[in-house]
Amino acid sequence: MRPAAGLNSGVTEGVGRTALLVAAARAIETHRPDALARDRFAEHFVRAAPVSAGWPVRPEQVPAGDADPLWGRLGRYFGLRTRVLDDHLLRSAHRGARQVVLLGAGLDCRAFRLGWPPGCQVHEVDTTGVLAFKQAVLDQAGATPAADRRTLAADLRLDWSEALLDAGFDPTAPTAWLAEGLLLYLPAAAERRLIATIDRLSAPGSTLAYEIKHVTESPGVRAGPVYTAARQRLGIDLLALFDGEPRPDSAGRLAGRGWTVTVRTPYDFTALHGRGPRPEPDDALAANRWIFAEAPARRGDLSGVGRSW
Ligand SMILES: C[S@@+](CC[C@H](N)C(=O)[O-])C[C@H]1O[C@@H](n2cnc3c(N)ncnc32)[C@H](O)[C@@H]1O
Repeated sequence: MRPAAGLNSGVTEGVGRTALLVAAARAIETHRPDALARDRFAEHFVRAAPVSAGWPVRPEQVPAGDADPLWGRLGRYFGLRTRVLDDHLLRSAHRGARQVVLLGAGLDCRAFRLGWPPGCQVHEVDTTGVLAFKQAVLDQAGATPAADRRTLAADLRLDWSEALLDAGFDPTAPTAWLAEGLLLYLPAAAERRLIATIDRLSAPGSTLAYEIKHVTESPGVRAGPVYTAARQRLGIDLLALFDGEPRPDSAGRLAGRGWTVTVRTPYDFTALHGRGPRPEPDDALAANRWIFAEAPARRGDLSGVGRSW
């Protein structure tokens, strides 16, 4: 059964459709014998939206396997990214960050599928349309969250901190923040504001993980098979959706504010897990960096933080 037609618009139009792309990759990953992450809800989203109902959700529906630039190599990338960030968030939560904020959560089901410690609050922030579609599909699937899940519809290019506070977010408690597959789409000024907001709302013990493309890709990379396949086969023009401005140095900004910052490549984790994408010529993943940051141990008095800043 599908959600009412109007509920599909959030994942059909613009950047919302990228959430379906990642969900399809997670559905395929779920059924690989050597899966790095499993998400039993992912295929429900893909099947529920007419625009993606014909996309593959099983490895056997991808005849070219890993040689398929979209569902093979990029799919492997999303599987690896999901696993690495699952591990990171759970580590942060078990170390005491019982408040999790998923910025640009899309169709991510971490609130449902991960083994959160007791007392965890998971905030999912995305557009109204994406969240409405997601809720309709989850309700139909009878999904029950494994944490205190709260959703927040907001435009992350604007100021969303008041709305997060209104949703019960506590800036004096440690938080695990995640911006997975989000900053690529935000204007540089919006990224700067978002990072400044996270810094301002982060108590000691907080962590942040995010993904960027650290350089503008060359014409050779931009003409490569993955971007062409996404455009032609899925109707997703990723290059048009990515923000074209030079990227701000968010890692440098965080380090300057006392955060401990580690910059990793996806290939570091391919090596760690023994599977995942590997470098290739004109590589559309070569510019990708995963940043892991820990807030400084001393942050001054955060009791008045939030509305007064
Ligand atoms: C590529 S998807 C990634 C979703 C999810 N993090 C994942 O990895 O499965 C990007 C998500 O960012 C959201 N997004 C992009 N720009 C946004 C904005 N300005 N405000 C709120 N959400 C935004 C989109 O709606 C989409 O769900």
